Amino acid sequence: EQMPLHVNINGTMRQLSIEPRVTLLDLLREQLQLTGTKKGCDHGQCGACTVHVDGARVNACLTLAMTTEGSTVTTIEGLTDGDPATAPLHPMQAAFIKHDGFQCGYCTPGQIMSAVACIREGHANTPDEVREYMSGNICRCGAYANIVDAIMDVKK
Ligand code: FES
Repeated sequence: EQMPLHVNINGTMRQLSIEPRVTLLDLLREQLQLTGTKKGCDHGQCGACTVHVDGARVNACLTLAMTTEGSTVTTIEGLTDGDPATAPLHPMQAAFIKHDGFQCGYCTPGQIMSAVACIREGHANTPDEVREYMSGNICRCGAYANIVDAIMDVKK
């Protein structure tokens, strides 16, 4: 049975009809075609699905879409204002490029959403603090050192 869901996604108020058991990740990717948010493990282990709900980072694969009723969801597509294809990069995106904070790029949207939250929540005072905060975002290519550099660069 479908249930109504009212949620602000990337600045647009949506009135949706969803299955109660659908995750926020599947809602974003499959119903709304917001495929910037990646599905790695679907079990809360990798961080590829990281988005912000009311400004706080969450694993979208562990979040039932219904629990976002009345909330504001931000995905990598909504990190900057306007069309993500043409809008200027967010400073964190630019820093990831500058510091080679990725290789294959699959984990990058989740890494960037966590990185933005890391600074916003005040956990970017030292590289160790950044490493601790970012420890839930796995990178198979091993770009960790460069990701920490990118975050410290934005923080300064
Ligand atoms: Fe959600 Fe891996 S897909 S944590």
